[in-house]
Amino acid sequence: KPQVFSGVQPTGNLHLGNYLGAIRKFVTLQDEHDCIFCVVDMHSITAQLVHDDLKGQTRSIAAAFIASGIDPVKHIVFNQSAVSGHAELAWIFNCVARIGWMNRMTQFKDKAGKDRENASLGLLAYPSLMAADILLYRATHVPVGDDQKQHLELTRDIAQKFNNDFSKRIEAAGLGVEMMVGEEKVSGFFPMTEPLIEGPAPRVMSLRDGTRKMSKSEPSDLSRINLTDDADTIAKKIRKAKTDPAPLPDTLDELKGRPEAENLVGIYAALSDRSRQDVIDEYGGQQFAAFKPALADLAVSVLEPITTEMQRLMADPSHIDAILKDGSQRANAIAEKTMADVREIIGFV
Ligand code: TYM
Repeated sequence: KPQVFSGVQPTGNLHLGNYLGAIRKFVTLQDEHDCIFCVVDMHSITAQLVHDDLKGQTRSIAAAFIASGIDPVKHIVFNQSAVSGHAELAWIFNCVARIGWMNRMTQFKDKAGKDRENASLGLLAYPSLMAADILLYRATHVPVGDDQKQHLELTRDIAQKFNNDFSKRIEAAGLGVEMMVGEEKVSGFFPMTEPLIEGPAPRVMSLRDGTRKMSKSEPSDLSRINLTDDADTIAKKIRKAKTDPAPLPDTLDELKGRPEAENLVGIYAALSDRSRQDVIDEYGGQQFAAFKPALADLAVSVLEPITTEMQRLMADPSHIDAILKDGSQRANAIAEKTMADVREIIGFV
C-alpha cells in the first residue's frame, strides 16, 4: 500500500518555492493516499544550533500545512522531535551509511562552505536522519522539490544496504516484503522509496537571478516571496523581479536560455494549475509590464487566503499544539512497530 511522507524544516519563512515545490503537491496527494507530513525540527539544529523561536517556527509550518488545505484528521501532521524513533533509526542508519556517501552530498558541501571541519557532525549526518524520517514509516513516495533528489537517492542506498546486510535475519524473522528494484523482484524490509519531484514547479528560482534557486538563506528578501508577505509586498517583489528586455515569446522553445522569463512563466503556470504552454498561448508577445501585474494578482489571490488562515491559526497556538500532539501519537504508533522489527533484525535485546 502506498505511503506518502514528506518533511519541511522550521527554519526561516516558508517561501513560494516551498509552497509550489512541496506543500501544494501534498494537498493534491492527500486525496488518494495516506500521508504523513512532518515538521522536521531536529533537522533545523544541524546548521544552526540556537534559534530564537523554534517553537513558533514549528507551529507556523504546521499552520501553513493546514491553511494550505491539508487535513490533519485524515492524515498525520506532527513534529519530528516528538517521535523518538526518528533519532533512534537515524543512529542505526549512521552505522549503515558510509562517510564517503555523506561527503558527496552537494547540500552538505554548500551548507558547510569552506570550513568543513567546523560544520556540525549533525550537518554531515543530515541525510541519515532524513532517511530515518522516511523509512520509519516505510514510506513509498516522497513529494519534494528538485533540490532533495540526491537525499532521496541516498535513502534508497541506505535501505538497500540494510536489506542486503540483514537479508538472512529479515527472512528468518519473516519480515521481508516483495518489491521491485529496477527490473528485479527482491525481498527486503525497507522499501525502495520513490521521490515525487515532477510537478509544475519542481525548482522555483530566485526573483533576482534566474539561475539560482529561491531559498530561505538568500540574503536579499526581494529574491523570494514569503508566505507571510502582504499583497503590496508581493506586488512590489514581482514588479522588481529581474527580467530581460524582450517580450514573452510565442513558443515554449524560445523560453530556453531566458531563465528569468522561464521562471515567471513557470510560477504563473503552477499557481493557476495550468501548463506553461497555456500561459505562453495567452501571454506570448506581451511585455513584462503587462504580464507582471497579472502574475502579482494571481499570486495574491492564491497566497492571501493561506496567509490569513495561517495568522488566524497562529493566534491560538493551543489548537496547533493539539494537532501536533495527536499527530505525534499516531505517528509514534506506526514508528514503534517499525522499531520493534528493526531491533529484532539487528539483535538488540
Ligand atoms: P526544506 O525545508 O528546505 O524545504 C521544504 C520543501 O520545499 C522544497 N523546496 C523547493 N521546491 C521548489 N523550488 C524551490 N526553490 C524550493 N526550495 C525548497 C524542498 O525540496 C522540500 O521539498 N531535507 C528537507 C526536509 C526533510 C525531508 C525529510 C523531506 C527532512 N526529512 C523527509 C522529505 C522527506 C529540506 O531541507 O527541505
